[in-house]
Amino acid sequence: MFLGTQRVNSRGHLEIGGCDAVDLASEFGSPLYVMDEALIRRNMRDYRKAFETRYPKNEISYAGKAFLNTAMVKLVNQEGFGLDVASAGELYTAVSAGFPTEKILFHGNNKSRAELDLALDHKVGRIVVDNFLELATLIELAKSRSIKQAILIRVAPGVDPHTHKFIRTGQEDTKFGFNLKGGDALKAIKSALAAPDQIDLLGLHCHIGSQLLEASTHTQAVDIMVSFIADVAKETGWMAKDLDIGGGLGIRYLEEHHPPKHEQFADDIVSALTTALKKYDVPKVNLLQEPGRSIVGEAGTTLYTVGAIKSVPIPEEPGERVYLAVDGGLSDNPRPALYQSVYSVLVASKADKPADKAVTIAGKHCETDILQWNVKIADASPGDILAFQSTGAYNYSMASNYNRFRKPACVFVIDGKADLVSARETLEDLTRLDIVPERLAE
Ligand code: LLP
Repeated sequence: MFLGTQRVNSRGHLEIGGCDAVDLASEFGSPLYVMDEALIRRNMRDYRKAFETRYPKNEISYAGKAFLNTAMVKLVNQEGFGLDVASAGELYTAVSAGFPTEKILFHGNNKSRAELDLALDHKVGRIVVDNFLELATLIELAKSRSIKQAILIRVAPGVDPHTHKFIRTGQEDTKFGFNLKGGDALKAIKSALAAPDQIDLLGLHCHIGSQLLEASTHTQAVDIMVSFIADVAKETGWMAKDLDIGGGLGIRYLEEHHPPKHEQFADDIVSALTTALKKYDVPKVNLLQEPGRSIVGEAGTTLYTVGAIKSVPIPEEPGERVYLAVDGGLSDNPRPALYQSVYSVLVASKADKPADKAVTIAGKHCETDILQWNVKIADASPGDILAFQSTGAYNYSMASNYNRFRKPACVFVIDGKADLVSARETLEDLTRLDIVPERLAE
């Protein structure tokens, strides 16, 4: 499986963005996150075009939680996308990169007062309100500043997508948003409408889950949300202008994964939306979306260097397991441990050789941090470069310093050029914030 600009070059190596992966690892070190800039841009353009041609009244924001640094913010802005941020840190990254703050949506299920203050300081376009405490705090803060803040109300629509239970969010039993069936969502809307000088209630939001390989839960959610908009209008006279359906479109981790193409996804969503608008007699809404994974996921490849290899006897067939250890693991990719995630793996330095050797790829943490069980790759030796594909989303952004590992560097590659966009942490970075109390100083 080759994604984006990946191919095998004349040296038999994996090439991404016109750059030899083995050269990248020797120039920038490993582990290394390599992002295929052309593919990120293509995904954004395809996503936008698919919706613009079918439903021009729409805005797409990139969900920064999937992968964010300053260069990415610049790229998102160049491509004309909005930006979804979910913490003071993501907001700060956007603001310090000069992102137009009116195109920012601010998310979070427990935004602090300080985060709300920061959002108001920077005049973010929309705050997606999750709970009653937040709404009350926001009204109070807006009052004290004599400003009116545009918001969306986050609703849990009660649909259960078929994805890993840790990344389901649209069901009733969730920590996110206001429950629809229980009546909290309507109550929140009424409270927002009761503060017309502080709150400009633009519309409703839902996000049902992530890595969804078909649009059926999205289309169910669209129907429920539009029906709710109609009910609310009857009850309060308020008509939603915005309907945000979050993110969630899945990507290819394995060759047998077939996420809908942008065109197909847009067809399904737009036809569900136009049908529902007609069915419930609701005027055209502004359709908002926040894709993350589907923009950057397939564009990322993690390069590791192969280290120790050992074979251990096991009772089941074929009687031995080959553990191949790499120079990263849990700290640069916690997803296998968290969600039993699967990845496609190849030996970047032997990309032209047959993948006929079964190995279990282990990280180097003081944990059984297996990155992938029983995958077939080319026969690898210490020093070979291994490539994990589809690591562009929720890898760099979820990396940790466990075992005091340094967070890897990240490069954007395009047209044979590689640019460092996040430097590798240094050993000094690891002790930079440490403080020694006087009694321990000697
Ligand atoms: N909007 C909201 C409100 C979200 O919570 C999310 C993701 C998105 C948009 C973007 O969803 P996407 O298009 O990326 O599916 N760490 C997990 C994924 C968590 C998703 C969190 N929310 C993973 O590694 O699979």
